[in-house]
Amino acid sequence: MREPLLIEKSKEGRKAFCFPPLDLPRGFDQALPSLPESISRQKKARLPQVSELDVVRHFTRLARDVHGVDSGMYPLGSCTMKYNPKLSEHIAKMDAFTKIHPLQEVSTTQGCLSVMYNLLEDLASITGMSWGTLQPCAGAHGEYTGLKLIRSYFEKQGDTKRDTILIPVSAHGTNPASAMVNGFKVMTVASDEKGQVDIADLTSKLNDSVAGFMLTNPNTLGIFEEKILEITSLVHNCGALMYYDGANLNAIMGVVTPGEMGFDVVHLNLHKTFATPHGGGGPGSGPVMVNDLLRPYLPKPDIQLTDSGYVYVWDEEDSIGKVSMFWGNFLVMLRAYVYILRMGSEGLRAASTHAVLNANYMASKLSDVCDIPYGKRCMHEFVISLEKLKKEKGITAQDVAKALIDEGYHPPTMYFPSLVPEALMIEPTESESVETLDEFIETFRAILKKAEEDPAYLKGAPYTTPVGRLDEVRAVKEPDLRY
Ligand SMILES: Cc1ncc(COP(=O)(O)O)c(C=O)c1O
Repeated sequence: MREPLLIEKSKEGRKAFCFPPLDLPRGFDQALPSLPESISRQKKARLPQVSELDVVRHFTRLARDVHGVDSGMYPLGSCTMKYNPKLSEHIAKMDAFTKIHPLQEVSTTQGCLSVMYNLLEDLASITGMSWGTLQPCAGAHGEYTGLKLIRSYFEKQGDTKRDTILIPVSAHGTNPASAMVNGFKVMTVASDEKGQVDIADLTSKLNDSVAGFMLTNPNTLGIFEEKILEITSLVHNCGALMYYDGANLNAIMGVVTPGEMGFDVVHLNLHKTFATPHGGGGPGSGPVMVNDLLRPYLPKPDIQLTDSGYVYVWDEEDSIGKVSMFWGNFLVMLRAYVYILRMGSEGLRAASTHAVLNANYMASKLSDVCDIPYGKRCMHEFVISLEKLKKEKGITAQDVAKALIDEGYHPPTMYFPSLVPEALMIEPTESESVETLDEFIETFRAILKKAEEDPAYLKGAPYTTPVGRLDEVRAVKEPDLRY
């Protein structure tokens, strides 16, 4: 059943809240400047008039209709929807962290500054970089910032010819977008038959117009680039820099660092790897970590530890400046810091190795009924192709994804990476128990069987949601957001 809007439930005179009596002298507002006529409201606002119980039930029902990691498995490939520990939530709610303002005198915010400083130290050691910035508020924002550092670096060298960023064909859409926003040209590098960077194609594209190569490793097929050291040295030998998209760091934490692989700049998604909430456009955090080469260009202010405590440093002359309001999404950083402290280095390594184990377990248990184009051995995620099912029964990856919703699962990522036809990208994460993995595998197999026997049923899914199959293309092309 569709949940009515609050305005649809409105009844004249109902109230959910009564303001306390005014404790200011009557007429106090007459001393305030009045709003200009042009922006003043001409008639009373049409606001819902509802009781407290109406409001509580409305939001409780809406919350029940939302799928989150707390309510069920969320195998959304490339997004690392792992469990967000309640300890981090508990600490992020403490007054000491929430009732504080970034413009306060630094002597009164030393605790928060120490969180940011220590987090930067930990992230530097996890990535093998020397320092970084916590300002970016999402992965894509981190990409924008990291590429801006590369641009500033070459500008400083007087090397203005380097105007191109190389990106593998399997890359996430934000990679080329961030390069373009930074004023770079984008050139695509092909994948070979193993789903890895095609070295011959890369070599043919390396020249003195290339500023950098953006790569995520393991890549978006869930495959570790075996020739990563050859790739990074080819790129460096041509004078360009290596950018690591850290969206897939959950596969390698504590095992190998992007620094050891030869990367110069890394963005991380704290809202993926470091167990902080994301989804639905909520606040994220995309720190950027760099080696010594790029350190002078980091956004300011930097945080440093001096004899008189933590201080902001504003005077780096080569800095690209600020990329965010204040210092970024502090409470997301805090949650990630709590997670890192709680896990310790052994715990982080165990998280990654379990994430890889879980993905391999699922891939091998599904490999007899699904085509896994680049082999069933994977890192933390794997990509299946339902092309055969589409050809034989007309059932698409989207149909299977919708049927999963009826069974209580968030669908895997669909149609990405684009080089796999009818792709579903599955990332179970380390959070899930073997029982949950088995249940998902059984459900998935049952859906594929249903697709063979009764394709029309799958075409109608989902059946259990407040609204059925939406025309997603039309919703994007002709959005109608009015009530
Ligand atoms: C490989 C990859 N890179 C970058 C991003 C962008 O991250 P964000 O959504 O935080 O902007 C994503 C997001 O899913 C991703 O999967």
